[in-house]
Amino acid sequence: MGELTPVPVVLDCDPGHDDMFAILLAAAHPAIDLLAVTTVAGNGTLEAVTLNARKICTAAGLHDMIIAAGADRALNGAQGTAPEIHGESALDGTDLPEPTVPLADDDAVTVMARLLRESPRPVTIAPTGPLTNIATLLDRHPEVKPKIERIVFMGGTTGRGNRHPLAEFNIWADPEAADLVLRSGLPLLMCGLDVTHQAVAGPEVFDRLRAVEGTLPAVLAASLAFYGTTYREIFGMPGPPLHDPVAIAAIAEPEIVRCVEASVVVELIGEHTRGATVVDLYKVTGRPANVQVALELDRERFWDLILDAVAALAGGDG
Ligand code: RIB
Ligand code: CA
Repeated sequence: MGELTPVPVVLDCDPGHDDMFAILLAAAHPAIDLLAVTTVAGNGTLEAVTLNARKICTAAGLHDMIIAAGADRALNGAQGTAPEIHGESALDGTDLPEPTVPLADDDAVTVMARLLRESPRPVTIAPTGPLTNIATLLDRHPEVKPKIERIVFMGGTTGRGNRHPLAEFNIWADPEAADLVLRSGLPLLMCGLDVTHQAVAGPEVFDRLRAVEGTLPAVLAASLAFYGTTYREIFGMPGPPLHDPVAIAAIAEPEIVRCVEASVVVELIGEHTRGATVVDLYKVTGRPANVQVALELDRERFWDLILDAVAALAGGDG
């Protein structure tokens, strides 16, 4: 069978320890053509996550990567970060070099719109942070909607949340943006906590990471160890879940996740439930399905992809 043409992807992220691995996987996997990394406030301030994106691309040797900064707050003006998980820098415990990859002059939404217009084929958008930039793109540039292949996002949950009992952080941080994306009519694939909590890095992952030659793998192992301490302390989890790369893996190798079609809406008003994704798995609401919801992950294949990506980029400037 001939080589498949790589899928053009824009990764919109808030690095973020797990976003970092999403950037590496998207850059390294042969099935993906990473057009740009755009940033959005989430795990940290826009300034922090954008600096982190530039540092990560520098360390991985992605010197030509387009990096553009987006929203510094949610559509309603809120600014919620997660220092308890990722630290004040949003990437604590991660010793990366000073960045040499420049920041684009234009903002993320302008860059995304331009890339969509210029791409010879529709582009997959992979948000792994709050959906503010995506909602703004759809609102400000409706003309590029036909050039969006689909939106494959890390966010939401069919049940328990992690930012409050029923809401996952990315959706909680900007529910209005999530609502606009969920109502967009575009093909959507949701990689929520149900599937990303299957991507927990156990001791064998650390062993495999530390066995890869190069500075970058050692930095990544230390970073993951930091991220693991916060997850152990706060959630009592045995290891850190790499949420964001699951969305990238689902683009690179769609069979890596098992999905079901369901209606997904987001709660905007509830005093105790704002930011909750209401996923109608049993079709009891009569609402039409608007999202492919990933429920199961091929963990073994997932970790192989992560380690392959790290090995491929280990020779970077790490
Ligand atoms: O809830 C997990 C998500 O929130 C991940 O994308 C993590 O990086 C944070 O953005
Ligand atoms: Ca993220």
